[in-house]
Amino acid sequence: MIALGSDHGGYALKEEIKKHLEERGIPYRDYGTDSTASVDYAVFAQRVALAVTGGEAEKGILCCGTGVGISMAANKVRGVRAACCSDYYSAKFTRLHNDANILCMGGRVVGPGLACEMVDVFLDTAFEGGRHQRRIDQIAAIERGETLE
Ligand code: RB5
Repeated sequence: MIALGSDHGGYALKEEIKKHLEERGIPYRDYGTDSTASVDYAVFAQRVALAVTGGEAEKGILCCGTGVGISMAANKVRGVRAACCSDYYSAKFTRLHNDANILCMGGRVVGPGLACEMVDVFLDTAFEGGRHQRRIDQIAAIERGETLE
């Protein structure tokens, strides 16, 4: 299951992504928001982040106006590696190299066509592991308050 969330700035894009996931037969859960009324992105970032780190969702997709605020908020939850992307290459390599578990995009930045291409490559690309695992482990060490050598 893929966890979806947005604020008002990302609402329309989230709805497009839902249609796309339905067409692909990919199960998802929508954690809100459910309209273009103004809301605070951190609320939806946290809901999706907890769904991912709690194991309820395999990955998450978050949208706000820029993708930036909602990614900042999601990354405050331990275990989240949320990547704010506005290009295909980054959406692919954040899976290959960063093992990102949440893709964030801006509804005022990217159109639905590109966003759905990014969703596809994000969901379909596996983490490469190897030397990249060491770097993921370092991110986790920072989360635990450790100083890297
Ligand atoms: C809301 O107007 C906007 O600030 C928000 O969607 C997002 O872009 C924040 O990073």
